[in-house]
Amino acid sequence: MKQKLEELKSEALEALGTVDVALALESLRVKYLGKKGEITAILKQMGSLSAEERPVIGQLANRVRADIENAIAKKAAELEAHGLSKRLISEAVDVTLPGKVYAIGRRHPMTIVLDEAKDIFIGMGFDIAEGPEVELSAYDFDKLNIPASHPAREWTDTFYTREDESVHLRCQTSPVQVRVMERQKPPIRIISPGRVYRKDEVDASHSPMFHQIEGLVVDRGVTMGDLKGTLNLLVSKLYGENTKTRFRPHHFPFTEPSCEVDIQCVVCGGAGCRTCKSSGWLELLGSGVVHPKVLAGCGIDPDIYSGFAFGIGVERMTMVRFGIDDMRLLFENDLRFLSQF
Ligand code: DAH
Repeated sequence: MKQKLEELKSEALEALGTVDVALALESLRVKYLGKKGEITAILKQMGSLSAEERPVIGQLANRVRADIENAIAKKAAELEAHGLSKRLISEAVDVTLPGKVYAIGRRHPMTIVLDEAKDIFIGMGFDIAEGPEVELSAYDFDKLNIPASHPAREWTDTFYTREDESVHLRCQTSPVQVRVMERQKPPIRIISPGRVYRKDEVDASHSPMFHQIEGLVVDRGVTMGDLKGTLNLLVSKLYGENTKTRFRPHHFPFTEPSCEVDIQCVVCGGAGCRTCKSSGWLELLGSGVVHPKVLAGCGIDPDIYSGFAFGIGVERMTMVRFGIDDMRLLFENDLRFLSQF
């Protein structure tokens, strides 16, 4: 019986050595130490031993049991530690790996410039007015003193929506001036940004749809000096304090006198380059003193009130602002271009 116990012990320890999962360990425990296990079976035969032998074998059996129990506990601890380190390795996170970059939307360069311009005008007390893109020719032409013979009224230039030429996609934001003056008495101080349409082929500086900001100020005693002061402030805020402007005489049917406003080329500083076609100047907008006929047509007495107006191309304004040399870039929505702003 003594020999049998020693055998059981070495057999159990040997079996333990090969165990590598917790489940196998448990069945070993049951096999040797369980109620129906091998040690228990031996202890059940103790009755057949003599009185001298019994305590000796009893002690041995207890030791063998304790040894196997210890070995199982040790193995269990080993298995657990091993499992943990395996898990730590397989679940390891490399905190030095670069994170995922999520694409975040941003404002279109024209929106950036438009927002800036709006802020500047709102700061000067202007309101924002809106008008329809599908406009009556009466508003876009007649009430603006544009004669029936004017080339802009040709079918080759304007997107008419009616055979009789009474309705078209507006070719400028100027009709908003008329709409505002018809419904509001002076003092008037508005800007009106929006889309305009002309039958132009797409190239580096043309698009059949583009954007303008119309401006209109009407009050007693408004002069060309107010026009210059307002536009000079806009230019200095948009393009920097030291940007020079040039007011060049021009003709628009709805203003008298009229002028176009140039700014010193932002690329070459006025020395002459490709962008300004060697002139040193970039054309930015059209403007003038509102024609008395236009005021009168809207029910505003030109003997009491006067006003100035202007129309700025937003594409132009943006291109000059960021040094963009091709208008198509503003419409192609290429993220490689747009993400630079
Ligand atoms: N509507 C003109 C254009 O599209 C720009 C313009 C010129 C607007 C003079 C005005 C102005 O209000 O007074 O070319």
